[in-house]
Amino acid sequence: MTTTASALSHPGAIFTERRTVNAFSDRAVSDADLATIWDYAKFTPTAANSQPLRVLFVRTAEARERLLPHVAEFNRAKVSSAPVTAVLAYDPAFHEFIPTTFPHNPGMKDVLERSPEMREGMGRLSAGIQVGGFILAVRAAGLWAGPMTGFDAAGVDAEFFGDNGWKSLVVVNIGHPAEDGAYYDRLPRVPEDLAALYV
Ligand SMILES: Cc1cc2nc3c(=O)[nH]c(=O)nc-3n(C[C@H](O)[C@H](O)[C@H](O)COP(=O)(O)O)c2cc1C
Repeated sequence: MTTTASALSHPGAIFTERRTVNAFSDRAVSDADLATIWDYAKFTPTAANSQPLRVLFVRTAEARERLLPHVAEFNRAKVSSAPVTAVLAYDPAFHEFIPTTFPHNPGMKDVLERSPEMREGMGRLSAGIQVGGFILAVRAAGLWAGPMTGFDAAGVDAEFFGDNGWKSLVVVNIGHPAEDGAYYDRLPRVPEDLAALYV
């Protein structure tokens, strides 16, 4: 499989240049590219190395037709234009893997088993951090991402995750920018003197 990725000009460009994309070209994204994205994203740090995030890569026309009815109308054209859309989900049973992924403290699995509140809080925070890591992994792999929460999560879960119980969090379109209409105007950032304090 060949890679279809484009290189970044410098490391900081992952933040400054590789922006959110809203319309994609028909340039394909290979399964090798998707494997590279996950190879990077899986190293995002998580609490107790718990790794609660899961991903479903929607990459066939049939799968996209199943996804589209659950996407908010204002987001449908974006999903339709993307060669691949990743559904990022949280696995409520993530703690089952703790003895493997946190072997020096396997008892953490039972602590989390006994405390659904702690499990939910820890899992959702770490899954959210992994969502950020995933978006940056798309960019580091030489592609562009369009994250979206404008979709019916319960509908997506019933459509795709009836068997495994995953809970969808964010869908991320993946591909290359269209020549026209890929980017909205850059929106203002919160002023640095408010957002970042130094002591
Ligand atoms: C969690 C999340 C949810 C988002 N949901 C949507 C959405 O439903 N529809 C949409 O068009 N953009 C959505 N966006 C895109 C943001 O509006 C965009 O990333 C932000 O304005 C920064 O744009 P920039 O990368 O061009 O600076 C979402 C982004 C994130 C991270």
